[in-house]
This record gives sequence, C-alpha cells and structure tokens, in this order.
Amino acid sequence: TIVLGIEGTAWNLSAAIVCEEDVIVDVTHTYKPVSGGIHPREAAQHHAAYIGETIEELFKLFEEKGYSKSDIDVVAFSKGPGLGPCLRIVGTAARMVSIMLNKPLVGVNHCVAHIEVGLWKTEATDPITLYVSGANSQVLAYEENEPGTGAYRVFGETLDIGLGNSLDKFARSAGLPHPGGPLVEKYAANADEYIDLPYTVKGMDFFFSGLSTAAARILKENKAKRNDENKNQNENGKQNENGKQNENENQNENENQNENENQNENGKQNENGKQNENDKNEIDEKLLSNVCYSYQETAFAMAVEVTERALAHTGKNEVLLAGGVGANSRIREMLEQMCAARGAKFYVPEKKFMGDNGAMIAYTGLLMFKAGDTLTVKESFVDAGFRPDEVSVTWKPPKIV
Ligand code: ATP
Ligand code: FE2
Repeated sequence: TIVLGIEGTAWNLSAAIVCEEDVIVDVTHTYKPVSGGIHPREAAQHHAAYIGETIEELFKLFEEKGYSKSDIDVVAFSKGPGLGPCLRIVGTAARMVSIMLNKPLVGVNHCVAHIEVGLWKTEATDPITLYVSGANSQVLAYEENEPGTGAYRVFGETLDIGLGNSLDKFARSAGLPHPGGPLVEKYAANADEYIDLPYTVKGMDFFFSGLSTAAARILKENKAKRNDENKNQNENGKQNENGKQNENENQNENENQNENENQNENGKQNENGKQNENDKNEIDEKLLSNVCYSYQETAFAMAVEVTERALAHTGKNEVLLAGGVGANSRIREMLEQMCAARGAKFYVPEKKFMGDNGAMIAYTGLLMFKAGDTLTVKESFVDAGFRPDEVSVTWKPPKIV
C-alpha cells in the first residue's frame, strides 16, 4: 500500500509518500514568522503559496525513484487539530490530489499521527505517550473498548497552553526569536542556580501559562532594575561594554538559521545599531540561563509526573515521547530516569519524526485506509478542535479475544 500524506496544521507544510516499510519521499516547506510567533493567516498564506510546488516536487522525486503517480492508493491529510486557515488549505489540496489521482481520501488526527509514527519508528508497542509540542501537551494511551476497536484516551493534558507555546512565549518576552524552545535549552546549559517557579499539576492535568508569565516577570523586573542602575552611571562606558557582548550573543542565536535570515537579521540589527539594546541585551545573561534552566526543570517535571501516574494507573511498561518539545535532551533524560526507576522502557523516534511531518500523516492514513476508514469529498471537512480521543481506532489487532 502506498499513501500520499499532507501535514499543515501549523508552521510546517510537509508532504510525504510512504509504504508499510518506510518513507519513500518527502518534501517540507517551513513557515518562519518574520517577527513574533506564528500568525495563523500568514502561516495559511505560506501554505497556500507553497502547496503547489511541494506536491509537484514530491511527485517528481517519486517518479525519479521509478514509481508512477498511479501507484498511490490513497491521499491522507491532517484533519485537525490545528489552525483553521492552515487546515483548510491542506484539506483543499488533498481533495484536489484525490480527485486528480482518482483515489480515496483519509482524514487523519494530528495527535494520533504523532503516536502512530512513534510506534512505526521505534520498538514501542503499547506505550503511555507524552505528546508535547507547540500547541498540544497530552498524556495518552490506547484503551480497547471492545475487541478490535478502542481509542487513544487522554489521561492528562494542558488546561491552558501547550508546553512548546509557553516556552516560545517566554522566549519572545526575553527578546529571543521564534521558536524559543531550542534557545531556552541552550541557555539552560549555562545555569548555576535553580529559581523557584510555579509548578501546577491539578489531578492529571497541567498548566503552563502561569509558569511562562512568572519566568518572564523575573526577567522584566531584573531589566527594570538594570535600567535604573544604568541611569546612575556613565552611559558611554556602559554601552561600549554591552556592545561587545551583543555581537557574540547574536552570533550564537543565529547558528541554527539559514544564511539569508542571518543577513536579514543582521541588516535589521545594523539599522538599530545605535539603539543596540534589543530586549535580550538588557537582561542579565546569567539570570536568563538560570530562568531557562528552572523553567525546564519545572515544566518537564510536571509532564513527567503525569506520565508516571498514567504508567502506574494503566500498568503499562513503555513510554513514548512525541512532539517538537521532545527534541529537548533534558526532558528525555528526566523521562529516562523515571522509566528506569519504574522498570519501564523509554522510546524516542528519530528527530525528523518528532515534530510535525508529512510522513506521520501518510503512515496513519495507511493504517486507516487498510481498516476501511476512508472519506468522501463531502465528508472531508477539517476540524480545528479535533480531539484524539474522538477517533475510533479500528486498525489495531484485538487485545481482548
Ligand atoms: P502541534 O501542532 O502538534 O502543536 P507544532 O506545530 O507546535 O505542533 P512541533 O514541531 O511539534 O510543532 O513543535 C514545535 C515546538 O517545539 C515549538 O514550540 C518549539 O519551541 C518546541 N521545541 C523545539 N525544539 C525544542 C527543544 N530543543 N526544547 C524545547 N522545545 C523545543
Ligand atoms: Fe504536531
């Protein structure tokens, strides 16, 4: 079975063609906000602008490997959850490809796809999944209702914002570019002190918004204090000192980004050169590191606590990590330690399958198609609030016989 899948719930437009064994080809086109976080309409405009060439490129690569378009059995798309304007672009594109190829459609739940790709690409069989990304944070596990059908039950989840978005929001307030998660991890590495931050787990659910606000407030107060101190000192001398530091920081920040961006960003910085104090540079570096470290310790401990309790409750003995925040080495370490202490096995897929990717949609589409879960064009509407526990899982072999 060969499936074409399109993902585009948020910032990543990504399409792939997969078979049972592996990814055959994939093409990704990432939306990067010029400033601030993800703007839903801008992200959708990005997807609309690039979906055509993304699919064309995908077909080209597929044919170069000796396949023909008619080898594709089904077209899968991310039905939700996600940003409405983005979902609609992807849904429309999937309908067009499905009509063009005269093949059925499958609408895939994005959260379920994060889990299924993890099961595909690791040895995990029946795990508790900790799914932590930008918009989503959930602890899930499969539970069978009757032989051969069940659902990924949500054991715990964020009751405000996702862990990734909370990191991004905090990072933005510290003057760091989007996405903030990787930068917070980098700064955390230089910490020397833990600062108390709000740890909020209620029942099996967690909250990240207050943590983000509290962390941002510590930096804001420090910045105000430093500004006051600056006023009382020789201003020229101070600025020169800061000037040197700034150059170094900016280089670090840009490491992971492409050269064009560096040029643009540097261009902007030169313009502002005189003012030179973008927010971050007024913040004490050590304090930033300590806050980033403490943020990670607090947020990840919350996620790990709920994961551990789901393990204890279900009696399962595997943990699977999914979602973009799963790239973080500290959350992996904490989960690993928790699993070791409980005698559970810990699984992490390769990084390219952790963040949003077309292959996870295509592969879940493959499972669903084989179970007969196809949609007509009429039924193929998108659903921005689509919950994973609404999906009737029909593609697993029965556990209860
Ligand atoms: P979803 O639609 O599932 O919510 P998403 O669109 O937010 O996903 P993902 O790729 O799953 O996309 O996750 C992106 C998030 O992961 C961002 O918030 C980013 O800051 C965070 N992230 C990426 N790398 C790291 C890291 N090393 N440490 C912490 N967070 C990270
Ligand atoms: Fe995702």
